[in-house]
Amino acid sequence: MTISMRRILLAFVAVAVACRATISETELATKAAQGLRLIDYDLDAEPIWMTEDEKLELIRANKNFFDVTDTYEPAESVVALKVVLDDQRAGQQAYAAPSKQSAVKPLISQISLSNMQSYLTNLTAFNNRYYRATTGAQASVWIRDTIAAIAAANPTSGASVALFPHSFVQSSIIAKIPGKDANAPLIIIGAHMDSINSRNTAGRAPGADDDGSGTVNLMEAFRVLVSSGFQASTPVEFHWYAGEEGGLLGSQDVAKSYKTNGALVKAMLQFDMTAYVAPGSKEVISLMPDYTNTNLTSFIGALVDNYSALPWAINGACGYACSDHASWDKQGYPTALPFEGTYPANSNSRIHSDGDTVNVTGFSWSHTLEYTKIAVAYAYELGA
Ligand code: BES
Ligand code: ZN
Repeated sequence: MTISMRRILLAFVAVAVACRATISETELATKAAQGLRLIDYDLDAEPIWMTEDEKLELIRANKNFFDVTDTYEPAESVVALKVVLDDQRAGQQAYAAPSKQSAVKPLISQISLSNMQSYLTNLTAFNNRYYRATTGAQASVWIRDTIAAIAAANPTSGASVALFPHSFVQSSIIAKIPGKDANAPLIIIGAHMDSINSRNTAGRAPGADDDGSGTVNLMEAFRVLVSSGFQASTPVEFHWYAGEEGGLLGSQDVAKSYKTNGALVKAMLQFDMTAYVAPGSKEVISLMPDYTNTNLTSFIGALVDNYSALPWAINGACGYACSDHASWDKQGYPTALPFEGTYPANSNSRIHSDGDTVNVTGFSWSHTLEYTKIAVAYAYELGA
C-alpha cells in the first residue's frame, strides 16, 4: 500500500479514535482523589475508571493496559499521533548496517556472567520490587547506587545517573553516557525494574525473569561500556522503569516528559524477559512485530546476526500496552522489543508469582547473556 493510500485509510481510523470523549481536568482530579485509576486498554475505545482492586484483576487475568491516570492526554492529540505512529512503525527512520565489529567484539568479550548473577541475586533478595512497596523503592535506590559507583569509578566517561520520581514511592532510574554532539537524537535502552506478585501484592515477587533479566542485561552493558572508555558521538541512555506492572506507569511519565521537552530519540530498545527458554523449544531471539518500528526491528536482527550465535525470528504479537516500549511508541518514537522466546507458545508461566526465580527449569544464564551482547552492540553501533 502506498503512503497516501495509508493516510486516507488512517483518516477513517482517526475518525473512530475521535469518538473518544475528552476527559476534563476536573473529572481527572476528582476521580484520582477518590483513588480511582484511568485505564486505557484499546486505542479505539474509551478509557475506563477502575478501583485499584479492579486493576489488579486485570493484571491477574494477564490483560495489557496503560494506566493513564497521571499521563492522560486528550483525544485530539491521540488522533494527531495515530497518523504519525503508523508512519513511523512502517519505517521512516534509517539505521545503517552494523559496521563496528572490530571495536564491538572485544567489548562483548568483557561481559561478565558472574557480575550479572551477582546483580540478579541482589535484586531478587528484595521481598518484592512492587512499585507501591518500600522494598520496591529500596530496589530502585540500590540500582541507582550500583550504577553511580560504576560511573564514579570511571570519571573520564562523564557518565551520570539519577532517580526519576513518580506519584508512587518507587522511582525510575536514568543513566546517561554523554555524546560529543549533545543535541543528537538519543539512543535509549530500557527495562523495567519492578516486580509483582499478582495474587498478593505484599507477597514474595523475586521477578528473576520478569524483568530482573532485562534489568541486569542493562546494568552489565553499562558497566562494560563505561569501564572500557567508550566515547559516544550520540548520547546513550539506560532507563530502568518503575511501575511497569501497574500499567506502564514509569515509562509513560518518562516518555511524556521527553516528548514535552522536545527530545529527539533515534531508537528505543526495550528488554523485558530475556532468560527463559522453554524446555524442548528452539532457542531463539524473538522480535516482537507489533507497536514497534520495522526498520529498528530489522536493525536489531542484523545485530543478532553479527554479534550473537543465536538465530532471531519475528513472531508472536505482544498486544496493546504489553511493556514499556509501548509508552515510547505512543509518543511517536521508534521502538523494538527482542523477547526471550516464541510467544505465546513458549512463555514462562511463573511470572508475577513467588515462583519467578533462577531455579525454574528453563531459566538460562547463557540465553540472557546473549541479550547483554545485543545491548552493548546496540549502544556502540548507534552511539559511537
Ligand atoms: N513482561 C511482561 C510482558 C510479557 C509477558 C510479554 C509475557 C510477553 C510475554 C510485562 O511485565 C507484563 O506483565 N505486562 C502486562 C501488562 C502490564 C501493562 C500490566 C501483561 O502483559 O499482562
Ligand atoms: Zn510482568
